[in-house]
Amino acid sequence: AEHESSELKRSLGAINLILLGIGCIIGTGIFVLTGRAAAQFAGPGIMISFIITGTLCAFVALCYAELASALPVSGSAYSYTYASMGEGPAWVMGLLLVLEYGLAASTVSVGWSGYFVSLMHDIGLAIPPELTAAPGVAVKNASGVVIATGVANVPAIAVIGLVTLLLIRGVTESAAVNNIIVAIKVAVVVLFIVIGSRYVHPAQWSPLVPAQVPAVAAGVPNDIWHQIGRALVAVVTGDNSTKYGIGGVIHAAAVIFFAYLGFEAVSTAGAEARNPGKDMPIGILGALLVCTILYILTCAVLVGIVPYQQLDVPAPIALAADMMHLPWFAFVVKIGAIAGLSSVMLVLLYGQTRIFYTMSRDGLLPTALATVHKTFQTPWINTIIVGIAAMCAAGFLSLDALSDLSNVGSLAAFALVCITVIYLRTTEPNLARPFRTPLYPVVPILGAAMCAVLLMSLMATPATRHFFLGYLILGVIVYFAYGMRSSKLGKGVVVGGHEAAPMELPHKGD
Ligand code: ALA
Repeated sequence: AEHESSELKRSLGAINLILLGIGCIIGTGIFVLTGRAAAQFAGPGIMISFIITGTLCAFVALCYAELASALPVSGSAYSYTYASMGEGPAWVMGLLLVLEYGLAASTVSVGWSGYFVSLMHDIGLAIPPELTAAPGVAVKNASGVVIATGVANVPAIAVIGLVTLLLIRGVTESAAVNNIIVAIKVAVVVLFIVIGSRYVHPAQWSPLVPAQVPAVAAGVPNDIWHQIGRALVAVVTGDNSTKYGIGGVIHAAAVIFFAYLGFEAVSTAGAEARNPGKDMPIGILGALLVCTILYILTCAVLVGIVPYQQLDVPAPIALAADMMHLPWFAFVVKIGAIAGLSSVMLVLLYGQTRIFYTMSRDGLLPTALATVHKTFQTPWINTIIVGIAAMCAAGFLSLDALSDLSNVGSLAAFALVCITVIYLRTTEPNLARPFRTPLYPVVPILGAAMCAVLLMSLMATPATRHFFLGYLILGVIVYFAYGMRSSKLGKGVVVGGHEAAPMELPHKGD
């Protein structure tokens, strides 16, 4: 019904969609997490990690493109799951999307804070270091020396507060503004690659994959296949006792997964695409391809300039720019990162409020979350709640914890998207699909399997595992105690002249 009654203008072509995707993708992942992943897990092998995750995202992107073309509604994976598998799985998807959007916004704000603090330092405004990190987190200066222990990340709280106010006030997502911010971000990344390439020491790329620590015992076979086998066994058994090596490259692939989040935002513009069947896959895959190439080149330059062991700092790209002894360029990088990350936060928080809005309209969440402000015409109560929660997470959780949790949630959500494609092909084989995932069912199965491997690699950390499982169990209890009873489907409320269930989908030839 929503598709039929959509009044949105079909104005977005393939290039707009690619730009929309890049606007959401490039953010804290490349500007901050790459440094952490290289220093702690992969070394120069971080380039391979980006290829692994890029491939995984391409599989998932093809699945998204199929769902987006078959169900070109506004909304997100929540709507796809709701329309195909029903309310229960959609609720679980909703829980996962809170991690993918809400917590991701907090993650980006911590990255933003790192660049902001660094910029303020450059212009002579020192922020007390204790107020720039979550409680207990060691605060490092630009060169990685510990100078204090955090109490709260005040800049991160403040920027989320600001973005929340903007969202309450109502920012019409203007394509022109988005294009300018994308241009700034891409320009900074490209400049970094071009200028930085002159300062690279190729010797630092070798060995590409640093030897595993602790070293493999003498006499144990250590060829590449044995290394991959051992790494996969470690993932399955939840063993995270080693660093670097192939296992480190896989773990880093899970950490930098965050850098790719956002490509699916293109699919949410399904109702506004000029020709969804053709433009949507080009938009999603095009954005992914451009970002993957930029990311791999950025990593090559980054680890080529700064020895990877020194990259675990709040603003690694700025550190590399400093090491080029080009103060003006370090300044440009920081300004670019600050502007670029702001737009990512806006999109992520916006996405979170709209998911709650849709869930509330479906009766799964209290109606207050769908209440629209009379003057601003935005879901203001919803936005305030989301904003406060994101501010708390941003101020009091470490970047590691935040990024790991949003990665686990997103990986699980993406696996569910791949499964939705298989489910819908089985239950609705005749549904009109302007775009069909090639090599079905290999692509969705590989996509879901790779998500599972990276998910398990992150779950080897006990704190991540406990939080994630506890969160899901609590969420399911809330569904049975509240959502199921109050939902429109549960009450059999009439929607658009039809019984709410089963939902009717457009078929070929309709
Ligand atoms: N991919 C986005 C980022 O890295 C979420 O910030």
